[in-house]
Parts: sequence; structure tokens; C-alpha cells
Amino acid sequence: MCGIIGYIGKRNAKEILLSGLKRLEYRGYDSSGIATINDNHISCTKSVGNISKLEKKLKKKSLPGHIGIAHTRWATHGAPLLKNTHPHFDQSREIAVAHNGIIENYDYLRKKLFKKGVRFLSDTDTEVLAHLISQYYKGNLSDAVRSALKLIEGTYGIAVICCKNPNEIVAAKKGSPLIVAVGKNEMFVASDIAATLRHTKKIIHLENDEMVVMRRNSFDIKTIHNKSVTKKIEEVSWNIDMIEKGGFEHFMLKEIHEQPESITNSMRGRIDEKHSTSKLGGLLVFEDKLKDIEKIVITACGTSWHAGLIGEYMIEDIARIPVEVEYASEFRYRNPILNKQTLVIAISQSGETADTLAAIHEAKTKNATIMGICNAVGSSISRESHGGIYLHAGPEIGVASTKAFTSQVTVLLLLALHLGRMRNTSKKRAKSILKELKTIPSKIKAILKEENSFKKIANLYSNKNNFLYLGRGYNFPTALEGALKLKEISYIHAEGYPAAEMKHGPIALIDKDMPIVVIATSDNVYDKILSNIEEIKARNGKVIAVANKGDKKIKKLADHTIYIPKTIDVLNPFLTVIPLQLLAYFIAVKRGCNIDQPRNLAKSVTVE
Ligand code: AGP
Repeated sequence: MCGIIGYIGKRNAKEILLSGLKRLEYRGYDSSGIATINDNHISCTKSVGNISKLEKKLKKKSLPGHIGIAHTRWATHGAPLLKNTHPHFDQSREIAVAHNGIIENYDYLRKKLFKKGVRFLSDTDTEVLAHLISQYYKGNLSDAVRSALKLIEGTYGIAVICCKNPNEIVAAKKGSPLIVAVGKNEMFVASDIAATLRHTKKIIHLENDEMVVMRRNSFDIKTIHNKSVTKKIEEVSWNIDMIEKGGFEHFMLKEIHEQPESITNSMRGRIDEKHSTSKLGGLLVFEDKLKDIEKIVITACGTSWHAGLIGEYMIEDIARIPVEVEYASEFRYRNPILNKQTLVIAISQSGETADTLAAIHEAKTKNATIMGICNAVGSSISRESHGGIYLHAGPEIGVASTKAFTSQVTVLLLLALHLGRMRNTSKKRAKSILKELKTIPSKIKAILKEENSFKKIANLYSNKNNFLYLGRGYNFPTALEGALKLKEISYIHAEGYPAAEMKHGPIALIDKDMPIVVIATSDNVYDKILSNIEEIKARNGKVIAVANKGDKKIKKLADHTIYIPKTIDVLNPFLTVIPLQLLAYFIAVKRGCNIDQPRNLAKSVTVE
């Protein structure tokens, strides 16, 4: 996610901000910028791409001052271009803002400001905030920020400076992390302790709706409703490596744990309660075409392909539109049958996968409408699609995809509801799905709390050479994904199958040395899955079952049972995939594998 650092003190702000930005690099970013105040004037330098490019520019520009703010951006609104890089300014360039998070009502505010004569220089949601603060500014910066924030819907961690108040930084938080770091005759604000740790270990965690006014030797923290709050200064004991990974041993584990938040971010501002549907701004360009589509083809690779398979089940179930799911590498060469009434959905976390990009090119030559579902804003696939939906999952650093997968499934569900409500899906059904969807993040949190018991199971089986993963219905794609996760990071051979297919071949593999992960949630095929487990046990296979809480039948049959909360069938993949991600992770840790950078794999596969 984006990173923020602000500094006020006696030292050269530029140097401190630049080194802070470098400490935030691990979070992933596409552009960066620094603004400082000197002689009642704000100077700013920005750059797209690596921080080394910003550093190069700064060598040619002095950027003096003892106060400033800086930002690493991971694009959400607007492509990674210089004009969209933070800090953003008001029209008079007296106020500069660095922002993390998403302003949900930015479009509404932007139109209102436009009517008042404000002209925008970027495509970002953040610029709205700079102009709003300016509209309220009457000499007191914190009052202006407070008034502006009252109009904001969404999430923010912000740092604001104003050249007319050159001795203070105002910062505030709602939903995005922000800490204040207290030094000797100097103060810092940052989205992440990593940015300030080399200067001080004394920090204050800001809570939602809190705002700080920082001066060189003092600070005041109040709520955005102007009520004073007393905060404790804490001493951090972590080292820099632990902090970058949020205290987790690996990025993959951190990202698995981020899923309650990343799924929430993928839903944020996209649910239309009134009409029990979803609002997907990126589809407006072809909203009319969506009414007429006769067939959907989903194309993707790897984990994104598994998400696509779940998308197929969801769209056919909810919207009743026929869907095909194609490996992009096959689709591109097999002269697929497409026409103007076909919607091709290309799913890609990185947005740069060569095969998926080539599949889009093929579909374009056949006049299909292309929808991109990507995490990386401004990526090649998002640019080459006619419209699309971003995941807003935040950067994924671990090569094995985890949080991007559950965000892809979130977005596909929202799409299925959108298409369904345009057709025959009843308001009642859509409403009940949306209601249950909102409980998913807390149900995932409950599963994550049990991770130590998954670790024990993982340790028992980490020396095996083969695994089978079985599931039916919505749980079949999850079985494929569980097997892929294990293969990727532990180098154990693993296969996913629809459970009933077992008797058509894989059953020959089963003996006492074969662990079989069976997803056995209480759904419409529950009894069938029980019979499959019986078949495995009759051949001495070892069963690790994923079942719903309270299921005693499974406990009697399986060697190990992982319990997860109950949800509706269509949402099962969100919950069943979490223990499978963790099983793969703990097995790979036990085997001493390189978790975040498994051998022979790349995060973005840009070659055929
Ligand atoms: C997932 O864990 C893998 N690293 C891989 O299968 C990946 O999903 C695939 O390469 C597609 O990548 P994309 O989503 O960036 O297009």
C-alpha cells in the first residue's frame, strides 16, 4: 500500500524524507514525491517508478527546509503518472497533502468543487482533499483539515503542510495506519514505523478519527471532533526486518492475515444497499453492452484462473449467463468463438501476464468487449481493456498469491450480483448474499486465530511427497488453489480434483502415505463428500477435512478436522481457502523452503 512520512525538526527534511521513503519501498509502490517548506514557499519533487529516480532528480534540485511530507504511491484512482503522484496541492499551491486510503465520495466532491471554479490537475481522489482544505482555510490549518475531513467518506491516513503555517504538520487517520514518532527536538509522522525507526523508537499509534498537530518540540492529539485525547508514548522493540513484514516471518503470512482487510477494501464503496446490487464505476463505459451479452469467457493463468472458475460458478448461479473459463495460454492460440455479444473477462493480479495480455489481443480482433480485473492500477491489462474493476487489495509481495485471490473472488461476486440484478436475480436473494458477504472478514479473522492447530497438522505431513485435494461445487476450484499453493512453495507434488472424479483414476494412488485434504462443508453435496471420505478411509488414506463448526460426523471419519464457520454455498471459497493457504505455508516453513521467493517462479510472468 501507499506510504507516508512527514518530518519537522532542525535537520534537512529532504534527506530524512528520502531515507524514510526508501524504508517504505518494501510495501510496493509505483511513484513517489517529496514536498518541503522553505521561506514560506512549498517546493516539490516527484518521480514515477523507482525511488532511485526521485533521488536522481533531488540531486539536481536543492529542496531546502526543515519541514516536509513525502509519499510512495500505489495507484488506486488514476494511472501511475507524474500528475497523479503525491503530494497534491490546492490551486494556490499553499497546501500540500499526502494521503493513503480511498475517498469513496471523491467524485461527488470533485463535481461540487468544479462548480465552484476549482480546476483539477490529477485523476486522484486525494486532490479533492487538498482543495477542500484550502476552501476552509482561514489561517488555522488544523481547523481547515478538521472541516474538510468531516465531508470525507472512506479511509485516510493523511499528512498536510501549509506554507502559511511553516512550523506545523497536521496528520489524521481513519482506516489507514498512521503513527507519530517522537524524537529529540524533532517529530515524525508515518504510515509505518519502518520509515522512522532509525531516528527514534518512541511512537504513538493514532486511532481512527484522531488528528495530530505536530511542532518541532510538541504535539497535540485530538479527535476530528476537537475533543482532546491522552495518548501513551510506546517504546518499540522490533527490528527493521520484523517491521517491514508487520511482525510476521514472511510476506506470505502477512498477506494471508491481511485478507479480512483486503476483502473489505475490495468491497468498499461498491455496495448499493438501496437496490441490493453493486456499484462498479469501471463498468460504466459499457453498461449498455452488459445488458446484451450472451456469453462470458473468463481468461487468466494460475491462481487468477482458479478465481475465474469460482467466478464462472457465481455468474452462472446468480446471473444465469453462460460462462466459459479458459487458460489464457490456450485461448490465445485456439481461434476461440467470440462475437460482439461476448464479454471477455481477463483476470490478472499483476496486470502484466504475457499470456493473458495476448488473450486480450486475440479477443479484440474478434470484436469482443474486454473487462480487466487487475490489482495493479495502470498495468498493461487494465490499459488494454475496454473497462474494468480494480481489486484494491494493496500490493502483494509474496510470489504465492493469497490476498489477491480472495479479492478477485470478491470482485467477481460483486460482478455476478451486478449482472444478476440487471436480469432476473431477486432483490431478496441479492440482499441475503450481500448481508452474508459483510460477515466474511470477521469469519476469516476467526479462522486465522486457529492457525496454530493448522501448524500442528502441517508438521505431521511435511515429509510427504504427494498430496490430493478434493472438493465439490464451489469447493472444487478451492481444492485446485490449495494444491497449487502447496506445489509452489513446498515443492510437494499436489493435485486438486472434483471429489467424485477420484474414482476415475486418482483413487489408485491412495495408500497410507497419501494425505488427502477434503473440503467438506455442509452444503448441497455434503452427503456425497462423506461417501468420498469413506472410500479414502477404506484404502487407508489420511484425511485432513475442512468442515463446518459442530460437524461431528466428519470428526469421526477424518484423521484431522479443521473447523471453519458456516456460510452460504456461494461464499464458501472465501473461508475454505484460508486453512489451505496456511497448511501450504506451514508445510513449506517446516521443509525450510524459500517462502516469499520460491524457486523458478516470478511474481509477474511477462514471458510466454
Ligand atoms: C499464484 O500463486 C502464482 N504465483 C501464479 O499462478 C499467478 O497466479 C499467475 O502467474 C497469474 O498471475 P497474474 O494474476 O499476475 O496474471
